Amino acid sequence: MTKHLPAAEGGQPIRKDFLQFARPCICEGDIENVIQTLRSGWLTVGPRTREFEDIVASYVGVDRAAAVHSCTAGLHLAMIALGVQAGDEVILPTLNFASGPNTVLHLGAKPVLVDVDPVSLNVTAEIIEAAVTDRTKLILPVHFAGRPCDMDELMDLAARRGLKVLGDGAHAIGADCRGKKIGATADATSFSFYVTKGITTGEGGIVTSQDADVIARIKRLSLHGMSSDPWKRESERGPWYYEILEPGYKYKMNDKQASLGLSQMGRVDEFRESRRRIASIYTRGFGELDAVTVPPEYDDGNHAWHLYPIQVDPDAITTTRDAFIRALLDEGIGVSVHFIPIHYHPFYRDHFGFPQGTFPVTERYFDRAISLPIYPDMTAEDAGDVVAAVAKLLEYYRR
Ligand SMILES: Cc1ncc(COP(=O)(O)O)c(C=O)c1O
Repeated sequence: MTKHLPAAEGGQPIRKDFLQFARPCICEGDIENVIQTLRSGWLTVGPRTREFEDIVASYVGVDRAAAVHSCTAGLHLAMIALGVQAGDEVILPTLNFASGPNTVLHLGAKPVLVDVDPVSLNVTAEIIEAAVTDRTKLILPVHFAGRPCDMDELMDLAARRGLKVLGDGAHAIGADCRGKKIGATADATSFSFYVTKGITTGEGGIVTSQDADVIARIKRLSLHGMSSDPWKRESERGPWYYEILEPGYKYKMNDKQASLGLSQMGRVDEFRESRRRIASIYTRGFGELDAVTVPPEYDDGNHAWHLYPIQVDPDAITTTRDAFIRALLDEGIGVSVHFIPIHYHPFYRDHFGFPQGTFPVTERYFDRAISLPIYPDMTAEDAGDVVAAVAKLLEYYRR
């Protein structure tokens, strides 16, 4: 077989144009919905935000939700509402984005990092239990890439050890596990509606919970800890009156964001199915390539397929993973890496002193990981180009 010269070495790239790594799927209906809100004259938190909260709550199967400015804001407030205080320990995976561990630190609590399961790349009850101490207050599992954690076993563990569970559902809108949607499987779950996520509000997030007190506290904290929000502000003294009940934050979602979210929620399952189609093209396409490990299928419900991370065997190629990524970009394929382990970041390394080797599964995964493009607007041809580019480079750089 002739080896085709990579674009990085002067050959023809697989794509003439560049296939973006991620792109929101925005239709005319989405645009129209936002325009209507702009025309309505009410741009801040108001009726559309309330409607969005109700739609998302009912979609995941809980009574209540609190819409906020980001998943990060949701994690922050949900931890407060679930009782995390200074000195408490919160257990979460090192295969993670900044939001979880950073917000734990903002509360004066201690992030206790753990490794993940090598197949699911999620935490398990066994991994978490080994890290529980008498200071543990909360566990913060990430549904990594949109694949649900086994929430039954995590909730059992939490009940046995008297802990709270906050799901990081940033990747997982639309995912479910044994008939229960992520968002209805923990004491609270925070979702992200950032541009790359399952649905988008530009920036945005929401916390879902079955606990009315938790949602009421999050709502209060998301607007300075004031007694009522501007949409509903009314009292015997008049609409101008409010009281600060505790020092809160300015974390509310607004009606412009919510009107985009409302329109996007109408297609949440369709988006997930489009992502699944791209995932199955990849899984089939990489089936023949020994050097590539693909994400395993998920049999207990719906995977949200927010990410499709492959692992490339470093012993099978004559170049580094980082150079392989650069070569893919030169082929016209947008790729990324999720995530740089938290314990590798200078702040966490210097303050917590985890030496390399502490979390072998995450570290091995990180050395091999490449996240491929996956979003609803991609075509089967786009996915085919990605497979062709990876196959071309593997052939050229084969050891
Ligand atoms: C696992 C995880 N948690 C939280 C977040 C934060 O989401 P947001 O940008 O909405 O705060 C992200 C963002 O990508 C994420 O990947």
